[in-house]
Amino acid sequence: MPRVKVVAALKGSLVGQELDVRGWVRTRRESKQGFAFVELNDGSCLANLQIIVDQSVPGYQDFIRQLTTGASIAVLGELRASPGKGQAVELHAREVTLYGTADPEHYPLQKKGHSFEFLREIAHLRPRTNTFGAIARVRNAVCAAIHNFFQSRDFLYVHTPIITTSDCEGAGQMFQVTTLDLARLAHSNAEVDFSQDFFGKRASLTVSGQLELETFACALGDCYTFGPTFRAENSNTARHLAEFWMVEPEMPFCELTDNMQMAEAFIRTVLKEVQDRCGDDLQFFNDRINKTVLQTVQNIIDHDFIRLTYTEAVELLLQSGETFEYPVEWGLDLQSEHERYLTEKKFQQPVILYDYPRTIKPFYMRCNDDGKTVRAMDVLVPQVGEIIGGSQREERPDILQARMRECGLNPEDYWWYADLRAFGTVPHSGFGLGLERALLLLTGMANIRDVIPFPRTPRHAEF
Ligand code: 4AD
Ligand code: MG
Repeated sequence: MPRVKVVAALKGSLVGQELDVRGWVRTRRESKQGFAFVELNDGSCLANLQIIVDQSVPGYQDFIRQLTTGASIAVLGELRASPGKGQAVELHAREVTLYGTADPEHYPLQKKGHSFEFLREIAHLRPRTNTFGAIARVRNAVCAAIHNFFQSRDFLYVHTPIITTSDCEGAGQMFQVTTLDLARLAHSNAEVDFSQDFFGKRASLTVSGQLELETFACALGDCYTFGPTFRAENSNTARHLAEFWMVEPEMPFCELTDNMQMAEAFIRTVLKEVQDRCGDDLQFFNDRINKTVLQTVQNIIDHDFIRLTYTEAVELLLQSGETFEYPVEWGLDLQSEHERYLTEKKFQQPVILYDYPRTIKPFYMRCNDDGKTVRAMDVLVPQVGEIIGGSQREERPDILQARMRECGLNPEDYWWYADLRAFGTVPHSGFGLGLERALLLLTGMANIRDVIPFPRTPRHAEF
């Protein structure tokens, strides 16, 4: 008999059939009438399957006390309509196999709620909780929706490298990749000779696949990359990870307005698909984590995003009458509090800001004729702030060279990137969505460390 997942058993169409279900005990309760209720979860959905174990099941006296929270079992039995409240079906056990016990004295996940801080310390066990099971399922659904969105529009999925020798964002927040013997180097006074290193030059973990992706977009058309991304920024905030996942589309013959249109359609389509697929999980987040989640998601699906230039946003912030911790002044980057004022107080909507000062944006963004701004865009959403960063790319060879120098980069290091402009250059644009930021939005979780399986942050790389 093939094993049936709890999600399938709960649908009810298998009532009357003999099933084999397997999973982990959430709770066990013994009745006075000589049988036990076991709540079984196998991760296939949020809900548990109720198992009725009668004393007549072989070995009952031996195993029943051992069916404590976390124990793993297989149950053979008949699925029946349940007379009780709270569940439509229940499984009447004929045979129970105990795979492994979980001693309540030592198993840390007992019935009471645990703090997210504590659960981070046992990240190897937290997938067994309702919250982290739901996050894992929603994360999976978001990834599938991302691929569906681009695949259905004929975008090519390109694997850009994890190890790179260029700094896309030019912010110098890269993790170095080396096989040099650091301990030995520490004892010598000689300057580090990177020509002796594994790659013969200084190499790092990528902060973005964009530059490499542009080479494919400028040959094969619309494409996207989706993978892990690394930033050695020492910001210990609830919205930054040292290792996160980013999806980046890149489109030739596409200017900033089309890029904004694409970003908006992308977010709304992905949210809709996840809403359709993970209804129970999103309801759980709304009930238990953040009462505004369902409303916020629906609101984003239903309404057009607001669009404002950076300059207009600065004016709005200056006129807002709010007191902000960080100064608002044309030319300064916006802080999270400013972004949240715009998306939560002023508009209660996602906002796309564009045309940022060139001094606060990377070298590859297309310069506007005003000489002051570049064709950048950030998508800001309520609760989270920046979720997407993108731009139209500088496709004019001479201006690109000048911008590299202005940003302190050596154009020779980017010779291949410049070649895209030297040979058959085209206007093109793209953006990057932080997967975990999208998950903060969908789950209402407050800390980004809780929406990635094993968070990496300054001073933390356990597991
Ligand atoms: O705005 P960013 O830095 O843009 C780029 O990297 C461009 N090269 C993308 C492109 O145009 N192809 O990063 C994009 C997004 C941010 O909006 C944010 O959602 C996420 O990546 N992000 C982070 N997420 C978690 N932790 C961090 N440290 C992040 N840094 C950026
Ligand atoms: Mg950004």
